[in-house]
Amino acid sequence: MLNPQLNSNGELQHLLALRDLPKDIILHILDTATSFVSLSDREVKKVPLLRGKSVFNLFFENSTRTRTTFEIAAKRLSADVINLNIAASSTSKGETLLDTVDNLTSMNADMFVVRHSQSGAPFLIAKHINDHKRHHLHVVNAGDGRHAHPTQGLLDMYTIRHYKKDFTNLKVAIVGDVVHSRVARSDIHALKTLGVPEIRTIGPATLLASGLSELGVRQFTNMEEGLKDVDVIIMLRVQNERINSALLPTTQEFFKSYGLTAERLALAKPDAIVMHPGPINRGVEIDSAVADGSQAVILSQVTFGIAVRMAVMSILAGN
Ligand code: CP
Repeated sequence: MLNPQLNSNGELQHLLALRDLPKDIILHILDTATSFVSLSDREVKKVPLLRGKSVFNLFFENSTRTRTTFEIAAKRLSADVINLNIAASSTSKGETLLDTVDNLTSMNADMFVVRHSQSGAPFLIAKHINDHKRHHLHVVNAGDGRHAHPTQGLLDMYTIRHYKKDFTNLKVAIVGDVVHSRVARSDIHALKTLGVPEIRTIGPATLLASGLSELGVRQFTNMEEGLKDVDVIIMLRVQNERINSALLPTTQEFFKSYGLTAERLALAKPDAIVMHPGPINRGVEIDSAVADGSQAVILSQVTFGIAVRMAVMSILAGN
């Protein structure tokens, strides 16, 4: 099957998932983001690369970081940005996702940034666009269900490269609710593509994902063993709605076994970095002393997210 993200010339048409995204495209996005990071030091942060283009933010699920940084990124590229208020839109009257997209296309949309609780929703839109040969339109997946969060994966790769320089000598641990995590999946695919030799997932057996061992991922149910000598720790949000279900004990029990404390962080390499896609749950998956400590790069991830999203949108628009 053709890769629906690429056009017939092998160029990026949509950004839907990091699985099957060629390494040269990932590196091109990271390199382009580097040039945009330097913009943030300038008094005038805008460039005209998307002047005259309309970017529609379609967030069918809540977001703080992704929605806001996409908006900032599009504005810094001089695009017109429209944030559709889903709750007040005709979706609530039963309009289908594709009918909404067709109507917005008729308003001369150029790009859709889509977050949806249903895995596959951005793929559905991209397929609809491809089937109708609307090659000027682009879809960016801003997180779909438990499937993929490609721009989070890319900003995580940017952050790792910024602090660690080389992917090919790293041990990376991903900790917590792996099975429900679109971030974990996107990170694992990108880490594999970029040549990280050791990827570990750590969590209770009920929250580890099957099928990852085929990708060479090592699974640990013991936090202390899993953290030993790692260079990068990616903590995942424990979804509170799952606490006290059959999958998870109480918040306190989870923290006791899998919370990242200063004592546990000391088991990793001394220069290990601590990442988290946010929102963080202090005292559930991460202790405040670690979240606010010198090894945490969580807020840098957010800042890099603007440049990475600028890179994605400018490459999609053909710049
Ligand atoms: N990391 C992330 O996707 O955060 P938001 O849900 O706030 O966008």
